[in-house]
Amino acid sequence: MASPNVLILGAPGAGKGTQSSRIVDEFDIEHVTTGDALRANKDMDIGHLDTEYDTPRAYMEAGELVPDEVVNEIVKTALADADGYVLDGYPRNLSQAEYLSEITDLDVVLSLDVGTEELVDRLTGRRVCDDCGTNYHVEYDQPEEEGVCDECGGELVQRDDDTEETVRERLSVFEENTVPVIEHYEGSEAFVSIDGERAPDAVWEDVRDAVAERA
Ligand code: AP5
Repeated sequence: MASPNVLILGAPGAGKGTQSSRIVDEFDIEHVTTGDALRANKDMDIGHLDTEYDTPRAYMEAGELVPDEVVNEIVKTALADADGYVLDGYPRNLSQAEYLSEITDLDVVLSLDVGTEELVDRLTGRRVCDDCGTNYHVEYDQPEEEGVCDECGGELVQRDDDTEETVRERLSVFEENTVPVIEHYEGSEAFVSIDGERAPDAVWEDVRDAVAERA
């Protein structure tokens, strides 16, 4: 089986990170995630680009999109080194989608569909390991010991952008900018829409089958 190039789309909290981890393990491909890359470089000085804010952190804490020129460069560099990948968090607007079509070909485009109130509940309840990045949820996915990561013993914290106010802003940015991206891919042979409002294992069965069929 060839190493597939997979794009995973969905609103904030739709489960892109959760399902991407499983795809990476099952198909032995790279996880390219703009959110993690930006969090690792959140204090990078981008003031020379004549942008509204001077750092990615300021955009992320406001729930806004980081400028395209910053994110496009991250994706281009990451994809150049990858033999098969799952791309998570990009493209988030039509201009990024156009850039992506110039630098790579996609075998599978997955779209995870989840309703708004479920998204708010998932994100405000999410806790993330400060050391290894593993995701938990205060109700649906609890660690064995409260506040402690099962994988590495690290501390579980709330992401700065998972407060209810910022989550609602992120969802409105998604509606305005990223829904047109999903519509752009709908109808292409690679596109598969998946009901993401089920337990992670049930979603995974459809995700795995969709990737395996097109790899
Ligand atoms: P990013 O980190 O990409 O965040 P996001 O897209 O908002 O998505 P999340 O990581 O919050 O959610 P997810 O879909 O991965 O869900 P998860 O699996 O964690 O981006 C953050 C910011 O960076 C943006 O706001 C922007 O500022 C900037 N940025 C990033 N990319 C950019 C770009 N291309 N251009 C410009 N700016 C960019 O699951 C969520 C929770 O739900 C977890 O607690 C999980 O345990 C739980 N859960 C998952 N699946 C299920 C399920 N099936 N049932 C119940 N609970 C579930």
